[in-house]
Amino acid sequence: MITVRHATENDLPQILAIYNEIIENTTAVYYYEPHTLDMRRQWFEERKQLGLPVFVAEEAGVVLGMSTIGPFRVPTAYKYCVENTVHVAAQARGRGVGKLLMPPIIEAARQLGMHTIVAGIDAENEVSIRLHKNFGFEEVAHFKEVGFKFDRWLDLKFLQLLLPAGAGRT
Ligand SMILES: CC(C)(COP(=O)(O)OP(=O)(O)OC[C@H]1O[C@@H](n2cnc3c(N)ncnc32)[C@H](O)[C@@H]1OP(=O)(O)O)[C@@H](O)C(=O)NCCC(=O)NCCS
Repeated sequence: MITVRHATENDLPQILAIYNEIIENTTAVYYYEPHTLDMRRQWFEERKQLGLPVFVAEEAGVVLGMSTIGPFRVPTAYKYCVENTVHVAAQARGRGVGKLLMPPIIEAARQLGMHTIVAGIDAENEVSIRLHKNFGFEEVAHFKEVGFKFDRWLDLKFLQLLLPAGAGRT
C-alpha cells in the first residue's frame, strides 16, 4: 500500500536519489550537475524554518516520490504565493503516485493562507502538465527558449492554481 506522509531527515538520501536521476536523465529539472546530501539537508532545514511541508509517498519503506511547496520569489509582496514541486522515482511513474502527492500540498497551501500556487513545468513535460491541470491548475505563461540542456533549447510553462480564500484577500 502506498501512503503519503511528512518527510523526515531519514528520507533525504532517497529524495536525493530521485532528484539526481531526474537531473541526469530528463529536462523536467534544469540543473546539469547532481545535488549533494548536504544541499538536500540545507534545503530541508530551510523548508522547516519557513514552516513549509515536504511530503513523501512510501511503499514498504521505499520512497516513491516527493512533493513540496516553497517560496515563489523573495520580495515580501509575494508572501501569499508558493511554487510547488512534485517528483516520482523512475520505476514508480505512471502508477498514480503523482496524483497522491498533489492534494497534501494544495491543502497545506490553503491551511497556510496562501492565495496561489505556481508550477514551473518544462513545456514538453506532458505528464506533469496533465497532472497539474487535473488538479485545477491553468496555464498562464509560456516562456520560449529560456532553458538549454542536452544541446537544445527548452520552453518553460507556468501553471497556476488560485485559492480564492487565501489570506491576501482578508
Ligand atoms: C510528472 C510526474 C510527477 C507525474 O507523476 P506520476 O506518478 O508518474 O503520474 P500519475 O501516475 O499520478 O499520473 C498523472 C496523470 O498523468 C497520466 N500519465 C502518467 N504517465 C503517463 C504517460 N507516460 N503518458 C501519458 N500520460 C501519463 C496519468 O494517466 C494521469 O492522468 P489521468 O489522471 O488523467 O489519467 C512523474 O512522472 C515524474 O516525476 N516525472 C519526472 C520528473 C517530473 O517531470 N517532475 C515534475 C516536474 S514539473
